Amino acid sequence: MVAAKLICCLNTILLMKTIAEVKKSKGKKKIAMLSLYDAMFAAHANNVDIDLLLVGDSVSNVLLGYDSTKRIGMKEMEIFTKAVANAKPDCMIIGDMPYKSYENKKSALENAKKFLNAGANAVKVEGDKAEIVKHLVKNRIPVMGHVGLLPQSAKKIRVHGKEEKEAQKILAEAISLEKAGCFSIVLESMPTKLAKKITSALKIPTIGIGAGKYCDGQVLVAHDLLGINPHEFKPKFVKHFAKLSPAIEKAFAKFRKEVVKGKYPSAKYSYH
Ligand code: KIV
Repeated sequence: MVAAKLICCLNTILLMKTIAEVKKSKGKKKIAMLSLYDAMFAAHANNVDIDLLLVGDSVSNVLLGYDSTKRIGMKEMEIFTKAVANAKPDCMIIGDMPYKSYENKKSALENAKKFLNAGANAVKVEGDKAEIVKHLVKNRIPVMGHVGLLPQSAKKIRVHGKEEKEAQKILAEAISLEKAGCFSIVLESMPTKLAKKITSALKIPTIGIGAGKYCDGQVLVAHDLLGINPHEFKPKFVKHFAKLSPAIEKAFAKFRKEVVKGKYPSAKYSYH
C-alpha cells in the first residue's frame, strides 16, 4: 500500500516534470507529436525521439474503418491506449477523449481516470470545454485542448477561421482553454495567419495540424505520413514522408503468388 502510494507520487512528480518540459519548449524547440494506436508504432516513434504520442480518436477512421470519430467510445480507446502504453515509451502518452465521454464534470473525470489507468499520462478534449478542463486539472489530470476543426462536432470537414468572426471565436476559445489550465493546445485546419496569432497570444505550446508553420509543434496521424492509406484520401496538409501502400500491396501479392504456386513455405521456412 505504502509502496503503491510512493510509486504513484513518483509518477506524478515525473509527469509534472514532463509537462513543465513541454511548456518550456515553447519558442525554443519545436514539438513533434504523432497520433498512433499500437505498441509497434509507439516503439518505432520512441526509438526516434518523437516528443508526444497521441492515441487519437482518429483510430475510428484509420484502423476501424468507420466514417466518423463519433463511432467509437471509451472501451475502444482504453484498448488502444493500453496497446501504446505497452511499448513503455519514454515520452508522454495523451489519450483522446472520445465523443460523449466528457459531457459533464463527473463523466469527464471518470473517463479521464480510465485513460490514466490504461497508461496515458494526459487527456485531450475538443472545443470550448473550459469548465471540464478546470475540473480535470483540479483533480491533477493534465489536459491538452483542441480548437479549430473539431471532428467530433463539425458538420463539415473544412478549414475553420477564414472569416474574422469565426477566427475571433477560435482565438477566444484557445485563450479560455489556456486560462482553464491546458498544458498545450492542438490547432486543427485553420489559416496559417490565425494559427500564428493564437501561438503568439498563448504562453502554452500550440501543436498544429493543417495550421501552418508557426505553431510550436506539429502532429500528424502516423498512417497518413507513412502513405499507408489504400484509399485516395489525402488532405492538403498531409505530407507523405514515405509511400508504403505500394510496398505493402507488392508484398501481399508476392505472398499470395508463392502460396498459390506452392513455393512458400520452402524448406528454409519449415521445421525439420
Ligand atoms: O484523433 C486524432 O488523431 C487527432 C489529431 C489529428 C490531432 O485528434
